[in-house]
Amino acid sequence: MAERLIVALSGASGVIYGVRVLQVLQQIDGLESHLILTPSAIRTLVEETDFTADDVRGMADRVYSHADIGASISSGSFKTKGMLVAPCSAKTLSGIANSYDNELVVRAADVCLKERRRVVLLFRETPLHAGHIDMMERATRNGAILMPPVPAFYHRPATIDDIVNQTVGRALDLFDIDPRIVKRWKDETVPDQEAAMGARELKAAAKP
Ligand SMILES: Cc1cc2nc3c(=O)[nH]c(=O)nc-3n(C[C@H](O)[C@H](O)[C@H](O)COP(=O)(O)O)c2cc1C
Repeated sequence: MAERLIVALSGASGVIYGVRVLQVLQQIDGLESHLILTPSAIRTLVEETDFTADDVRGMADRVYSHADIGASISSGSFKTKGMLVAPCSAKTLSGIANSYDNELVVRAADVCLKERRRVVLLFRETPLHAGHIDMMERATRNGAILMPPVPAFYHRPATIDDIVNQTVGRALDLFDIDPRIVKRWKDETVPDQEAAMGARELKAAAKP
């Protein structure tokens, strides 16, 4: 039987992360994507991309209404690998942190957490107030992995696609899914002498 990953797109900026997740999962054999799109994600999709909601729905194996709290994924008896929320808004994070399960995204995440399945939240808001940090802590204590989509630069991204792919690939790493889009850090270490020289140059540059 194929494995299943629940993918939720909520209304934070960076809806392209969720779209890319669905695109790369289409290339993985033996894995089904189970999609929930919130109404606000559809709004950000319009603002931030040229995709329609139907385009995105067409990328998934199964699609659920976010209002359908009786869907299969709202029960722990329906087995999944877990859930990736990409991007995750402050509102959805708040729901998950507090088990406020009145919408399917939050209910499905809460179910995954109680079943001790992996839940990864690409929480996107900035700057943060103490309430956001509290919610991140609470969700983490409940078992979620908070992974704000902060870009990496060590792989020398040249395009937005490079940045998006690296974050999406690292998020899927957390589910042991490897669509081969991550540029992995090379094994060779920088020779000691060069590293020391780099540190000296940094110190010199920092002097007023
Ligand atoms: C263009 C746009 C960008 C937004 N960006 C963010 C964001 O980065 N983070 C966030 O928490 N909310 C953001 N919002 C607000 C959320 O969409 C809003 O709080 C919504 O109620 C979230 O609902 P949901 O979590 O059910 O998708 C944005 C809204 C719009 C229209």
